[in-house]
Amino acid sequence: MSSHRQFDVESVRQCFPLLAQQINGHPLVYLDNAATTQKPQAVLDALVAYYRNDNANVHRGVHALAERSTAAFESARQRVATFVNARSHREIVWTRGTTESINLVAHSFGGENLRPGDEILLSDMEHHSNIVPWQLVAQRTGAELRVVPVTPEGELDLDDFDRLLSERTRIVAMVHVSNALGTINPVEEICRRAHDAGAVVLLDGAQAAAHLPIDVQAIDCDFYAFSGHKMYAPTGIGVLYGRESLLDAMPPWQSGGEMIRTVSFDHTTFNELPYKFEAGTPNIAGAIGLRAAIDFIESLDRGALIAHEEHVRKLTESLLQQNENVRLIGTAANKTGVVSFLLDGAHPSDVGTLLDQQGVAVRTGHHCAMPLMERLGIPGTVRASFGMYNSEEEVHRLMDAITKAQSFL
Ligand code: ALA
Repeated sequence: MSSHRQFDVESVRQCFPLLAQQINGHPLVYLDNAATTQKPQAVLDALVAYYRNDNANVHRGVHALAERSTAAFESARQRVATFVNARSHREIVWTRGTTESINLVAHSFGGENLRPGDEILLSDMEHHSNIVPWQLVAQRTGAELRVVPVTPEGELDLDDFDRLLSERTRIVAMVHVSNALGTINPVEEICRRAHDAGAVVLLDGAQAAAHLPIDVQAIDCDFYAFSGHKMYAPTGIGVLYGRESLLDAMPPWQSGGEMIRTVSFDHTTFNELPYKFEAGTPNIAGAIGLRAAIDFIESLDRGALIAHEEHVRKLTESLLQQNENVRLIGTAANKTGVVSFLLDGAHPSDVGTLLDQQGVAVRTGHHCAMPLMERLGIPGTVRASFGMYNSEEEVHRLMDAITKAQSFL
């Protein structure tokens, strides 16, 4: 028996109340998990319990609620540290999400360390959130962007990576898993080569954290950014992992309460890690929700979950390949979570609308990766992206909906 059969997808589906609804007269098939995932009851319960029983501001009060709230908030941070195998909770900074995590590094590390002529190495498959912050800091500092091309299959060309990496490279900022193609990049190899050249590495893990075990020490990255909402937690909470020695040397970026130690009108001293980077009242409930999501993910057999998701993705790809009017976009050898495709002669958004009429939710368009679409010479794709609750039956519903859509186009 293959391991995907050991994963009880029907029991998992029962934990996500939103899934049990009809859309346009059909049972919902939610295949937009790369945009955001649905939330299990355990996460919803954690949010309600926090607001109902413990709500208070953190790190400020001596009263019982403030102590409870602070303990829950900091224990969520420690949970995240363990989840990604950080060396310490001091390496875990709360942010609003991946985008804010990348902005933090671009502003603080980039602003402090980049000089005219320095280079920032990106790839063609970056999401806009791992392009634009670097463009802005390059404009401010006189640094320049260099871009590693992707192959037609949607893989990074490591020969080009080596060609573009040099002693001028200060920062390598790359996606772990492509949101548009599902490609898993060889991040350990990227870090090894970048470090040999003296560069630091930031990885955009937005699409990886729900699908792959993340071990920042084994990967040996310097920064790792991810979002709660793409891993079954609430929106508005995210994480920046940073190597402590780097975070320690970086200046604060946002300022205000919480990130300070002392303030006078002449002089301010800053708080210790990680609070130096957390100005203002944080998203306390979001952190507690993220902890509940991690507990939920880790309550499952992770190996069986990964095998199940791989099975569902590969089934989708192989059934789509049997349709002669379908072109798969992104056929990397190492993928997770995403199947992008085009239907001959049909605009992706028309396909998306016809699928929605049959209860199937997919994303269409450029997926916030316009340079990648340009490189591949396409306007966008139809993207089915998977979560732990997607079933074989839903894959067949997607295929039936595509066949029906084709009859309208
Ligand atoms: N980055 C998210 C996506 O790919 C929003 O859909």
